[in-house]
Amino acid sequence: MMKRFLVQAVCLLIFICCNAGVCFSQKRTIDQRVDSVLKLMTLDEKIGQMNQYNGDWAATGPITKDGDKQEQIRNGKVGSMLNVTGVDHTRTLQEIALQSRLKIPLLFGQDVIHGYRTIFPIPLAEAASWDMVAIQQSARIAATEASAAGVHWTFAPMVDIARDPRWGRVMEGAGEDTYLGSMIAKARVTGFQGNGLGNTDAVMACAKHFAAYGAAVGGRDYNSVDMSLRQLYEIYLPPFKAAADAGAATFMNSFNDLNGVPATGNKLLQRTILKGQWNFKGFVVSDWGSVGEMINHGFSKDNYEAAMQASNAGSDMDMESRSYIQNLAKLVKEGKVKMPVIDDAVRRILKKKFEMGLFDDPFRFCNEQREKQQWNNTQHLIAERDMAKKSIVLLKNDNKLLPLSKQTKTIACIGPFAKAKSDNLGFWSYDWPDDSTRIVSLWEGVQKKVDANTKMIYAKGCGIADTSHAGFAEAIEAAKNADVILLSIGEARDMSGEAKSRSSIQLPGVQEELVKALYATGKPIVVLISAGRPLIFNWTADHVPAILYTWWLGTKAGDAIADVLFGDHNPSAKLPMSFPIAEGQIPIYYNHYNTGRPAMNDSDKFYRSAYTDLSIYPKYPFGFGLSYTSFTYSDVSLSAGTIKAGQKLTASVRLTNSGNYAGTETVQLYIRDLVGSVVRPVKELKGFQKVELAAGETKTVSFVITTDDLKFYNDDLKYDWESGDFEIMIGGSSAEVKKATVNWNK
Ligand code: BGC
Repeated sequence: MMKRFLVQAVCLLIFICCNAGVCFSQKRTIDQRVDSVLKLMTLDEKIGQMNQYNGDWAATGPITKDGDKQEQIRNGKVGSMLNVTGVDHTRTLQEIALQSRLKIPLLFGQDVIHGYRTIFPIPLAEAASWDMVAIQQSARIAATEASAAGVHWTFAPMVDIARDPRWGRVMEGAGEDTYLGSMIAKARVTGFQGNGLGNTDAVMACAKHFAAYGAAVGGRDYNSVDMSLRQLYEIYLPPFKAAADAGAATFMNSFNDLNGVPATGNKLLQRTILKGQWNFKGFVVSDWGSVGEMINHGFSKDNYEAAMQASNAGSDMDMESRSYIQNLAKLVKEGKVKMPVIDDAVRRILKKKFEMGLFDDPFRFCNEQREKQQWNNTQHLIAERDMAKKSIVLLKNDNKLLPLSKQTKTIACIGPFAKAKSDNLGFWSYDWPDDSTRIVSLWEGVQKKVDANTKMIYAKGCGIADTSHAGFAEAIEAAKNADVILLSIGEARDMSGEAKSRSSIQLPGVQEELVKALYATGKPIVVLISAGRPLIFNWTADHVPAILYTWWLGTKAGDAIADVLFGDHNPSAKLPMSFPIAEGQIPIYYNHYNTGRPAMNDSDKFYRSAYTDLSIYPKYPFGFGLSYTSFTYSDVSLSAGTIKAGQKLTASVRLTNSGNYAGTETVQLYIRDLVGSVVRPVKELKGFQKVELAAGETKTVSFVITTDDLKFYNDDLKYDWESGDFEIMIGGSSAEVKKATVNWNK
């Protein structure tokens, strides 16, 4: 007994020395260092590492609610905190953590979803840019700012495929497509983690919500998901796999049940697929309270059972359920959770703390000077404006109304978003005290852009969700006195986001009536729509000559919109989700199956897979977006009509800029496997390129296709390709492609 005590005391001494950076520890591998810490830990200390609390930090002082959290941190009962940011606050709590017996530093996690100090466009908007360099850069900047404020870990990227715009969380992801979503997952993870954990400007990424959260029935948040494993593997998992392959440090599981088993207690997802088949070495955090919520699901009898099921299933850290801290010790003692399960979870968590360099210097993210520098980094604002203009989608531009002349004599700037500030930021963003001076409204952006002699008239017209027409008269008067109307409408920043599912996704309030009233003045009208999801605005789409979808664009929204309105930036964004004509079409997505009775067009309804009272086509398809110039595609030429396994196919088009402006086209490659052992989608995105062309210029755009691009999960969940005919399609949207067919044989 005495001997054991002595050994432990010596180990502890070595460990403390190592933490103070005074010993040979650097020479040991991280795994060895993790093991040496683990050996010293009591069961309670281990469970403490698996416990995460919310900060409840009041801006003016330390933790206000749950004051005992500080005591728990001091006692080694907390491994991580969320919603504690700023050098001051994180330092204070880290100092408390270092008073614990083993001085294990805390991890600070935060939802840095689309920027921290500089707010970038919402992720769905960024996805519309199809620009991986810009998206990676946006995540890089978010990480730079957040890490300077003491944050170690962002709960992003959200990589849930979403085919249902009623679900408010579509704003957080990359839309409906698996291929695009996977590319973006990789770009974001790479951006957040920069040159690797251990650099003080890198934050750990967290791929969430694992898995299939975006397929919630009816688009209702937190709802159940029931889907075939084939669909899970083929459509919903690849972006997660891409995030894991890109080195995402952590995963977050999800609130939903998947085929009857809550994701948090789901062994198939967390143990078999993630930690097994994918060999993921990071750790999994639960979603907020999702361990305890397994009781509501009817999967766990009580918190004791919930802790057992979640930890055994591979949930390593419990966010805010308190199920682990209250039950795991008993569960271990009763043999219901085995020690190796605990050790594995703690090892994974400690490993990340080591990789972040926190054992070497727990305060390495607490540098006031760096925090100050990053607080007003003007380079970041420039990058934000660039990302924002690349995210704006031109939906309509009849008679080339856009771009507008900077010399326009009188502009009426109307609508609830015309002078909006914080609504430009969108859900999952922070309100900083000086935001009103930093955020650029549309009004300000346009004012800066136009000629000194241009007169600008403002009228609000109505509020976002108003039922009153009281402001219409003033708006009509403003319109009548103008040469052009800029009408900025949409959703308030809290209308899309978590728990913001809507059964109606029409423009809220009387905004579309305002469109009608202003259209009736006969003045040219440009409608700008700010939103976090695809909205329905059929009357507007069918009548007004010009529409820009401006999402929630972030800090420099007004500047970016003005860049596009006045032609300093030629739009090239393409929709990452289909826009329905009516809610009755949802879920609507481009990569559906053909069915046995496909309708060939909207009049083809006789015993067809169609609606008797509604079109089957979206208002705007996936991949759609216009430019101020026009692009002409030649037919697709293939390097061969018949090829064999092991060979590559090159598919090319000649792309001509047939308009008057230089522009960038996002050329999209789709493939259809015409006959399969299981049915295949009518088309699947397999590649894209952004091609810049001067007016009148022509370029050949080629894609190299391999049999990897033909693979799918068959009925036995085997991932392979099958011989046969394949349609190769290239075009500027999922609905407008040129085709050629290849016969590919094993
Ligand atoms: C959300 C997560 C988020 C977490 C922490 C949950 O409600 O689903 O996406 O990371 O809260 O804020």
